[in-house]
Amino acid sequence: MCGIVGFIGKKQAAPILLEGLAKLEYRGYDSAGIAVFDGEKIRVEKAKGRLKVLSEMTHDGETMPGTVGIGHTRWATHGEPNQVNAHPHFNTSGSIVLVHNGIIENYLSLRQRLLKKGYEFASETDSEVVAQYLDYYYRESGDPLASITKVLHRVEGAYALGILFQDHPDTLYAVRKDAPLIIGKGKEANLIASDATALLKHTRNVYYLENNEIAVIHEDSIDFVNVDGDTVEKTLSRIDWDESAAEKGGYEHFMLKEMYEQPKTVRDTLNPRIKEGRVEIEELGMTDEEIRNVGRIHIVACGSAYHTGVTGKYVFEGLCRIPVEVDLASEFRYRDPILGEKDLVIVISQSGETADSLAALREAKAAHIMTLGIVNVVGSSIAREADKVMYTWAGPEIAVATTKAYSAQLIALYLLAIRFGTALGTVDQSLAAQMIGDLKRLPDQIELLLNNKEKIQSFANHYLAAQHIFFIGRGIDYAIAMEGSLKLKEISYIHSEAYAAGELKHGTISLIEEGTLVNAIVTQDALYAKTVSNIVEVKSRGAFVMAVTNEGNTEIEKNADLVIYIPQTNRYFTDSLAIIPLQLFAYYVSVGRGCDVDKPRNLAKSVTVE
Ligand code: AGP
Repeated sequence: MCGIVGFIGKKQAAPILLEGLAKLEYRGYDSAGIAVFDGEKIRVEKAKGRLKVLSEMTHDGETMPGTVGIGHTRWATHGEPNQVNAHPHFNTSGSIVLVHNGIIENYLSLRQRLLKKGYEFASETDSEVVAQYLDYYYRESGDPLASITKVLHRVEGAYALGILFQDHPDTLYAVRKDAPLIIGKGKEANLIASDATALLKHTRNVYYLENNEIAVIHEDSIDFVNVDGDTVEKTLSRIDWDESAAEKGGYEHFMLKEMYEQPKTVRDTLNPRIKEGRVEIEELGMTDEEIRNVGRIHIVACGSAYHTGVTGKYVFEGLCRIPVEVDLASEFRYRDPILGEKDLVIVISQSGETADSLAALREAKAAHIMTLGIVNVVGSSIAREADKVMYTWAGPEIAVATTKAYSAQLIALYLLAIRFGTALGTVDQSLAAQMIGDLKRLPDQIELLLNNKEKIQSFANHYLAAQHIFFIGRGIDYAIAMEGSLKLKEISYIHSEAYAAGELKHGTISLIEEGTLVNAIVTQDALYAKTVSNIVEVKSRGAFVMAVTNEGNTEIEKNADLVIYIPQTNRYFTDSLAIIPLQLFAYYVSVGRGCDVDKPRNLAKSVTVE
């Protein structure tokens, strides 16, 4: 939820910290701060509001000399967004300073304990409690590493920490548990960051910290120990993202850029898994027999990833006749799910760090159930902890509202379903070949829809003041409706709901008034007449209806006020096309309302806390 950076090297740290934070602002942006050792003490500057405020305050870091420092951009969990609660936090004397991403779940009891020992707190945050506890143990031992390991034995919850000790200004400490943090090995400097986008300018060589490993970082060396003080040998990994992927590339917003990258991300996710006209998913590492041995699939995810899971259910059950359950990860992890030994749990996550999805994965692993992660961020927690991982190759997705990763997740699910169906014999070679042909046509079809945006753009401008907008659909169209509704809500702040079209008459239709906009998704031919009758129902109560349907369904123009046509494709793949006009609709409504498209209020890109 927050962004962390750290630097130790020969150059001035502050400008590098600010630049790194700018790359991470999509992770949280209600306040920001940096701390730099100036040769005598650790100076801290922090400010409420966007990073720009801090940059102006420090003249882009020029007023903070020093070559070792840490920085933080915040998405508030404990304590309102203000200057005092902003990170970095420190002990009372200011000799120990840290930045923290995550939640210390037992911070109140720890805080009480320190209050009894005479400590006072400046902020309401859980992070300051860690800084003061480090002080408590450091006073005893005078040893930073000993202090850190003692604190780690005390705290409960999730944390990624960057820590400086004024008595040891040549050393930067970093540690994580259930929150992302990677260590960058540079030429004349070493760095830490919440994710790779903040490191790429300096290095592509990184270490992925495992839970409760501590990195002891100097400008020319990096050592690792565990909480028991044992040395840990780690291998260097290389990031192969191109840095341009983390820039806007001439688009007004990252979201628009990433929407237009969807044809590429579909190709990049699809093509490596099509060999000689067959679906081959090497990383799956499952034989036909092992696939046939799968009795049931649980798809678990959050938000948009969950919506792809709902589509996935229809595709898997339709093609493979395997029972599929789809759960919100935040529900799955607490409902004591009934898992069978022949089950497969698929966790879908763009970031690979979503706390609820990671917890759900662990729940499945604790039950010794095979797990597969469909993940976009290489080396992320879910990618590393799942038994198997299938990457979505969408590249870094910066906008909080997912688009290209969503589209790539759909492709991964289609490929898996075809692979499973082929092994199960429910998908024969000719059907597989036909579907592969449909999949290969999707990128160009997506491009066509993106390039015909004018109709949607002008339509969106009629609904900037809308109070309520409904999305309806049946089957896969219902999953599409959920995603279209979420896109609109999260970036335009307009209330919206997605409804199974057949469910309207059980209550919600009472909300339809004169002029209420209802977006009807009608791509499933077998359900077409039913959904059209639902359009008639809402129309008769005064609704304005935009329908998204397949080319050729022109008679729907008798009932819908506006019709957006998508090219013909396999009925299982229509989500990949119908979502495009809905993404465009949400984007242009958000822009028209002057919202912050890439960094919507109250949100963050990766929800690494519960
Ligand atoms: C989607 O636009 C939202 N940003 C959000 O629902 C997101 O899909 C959800 O938080 C899951 O994130 P993940 O894919 O990184 O796990």
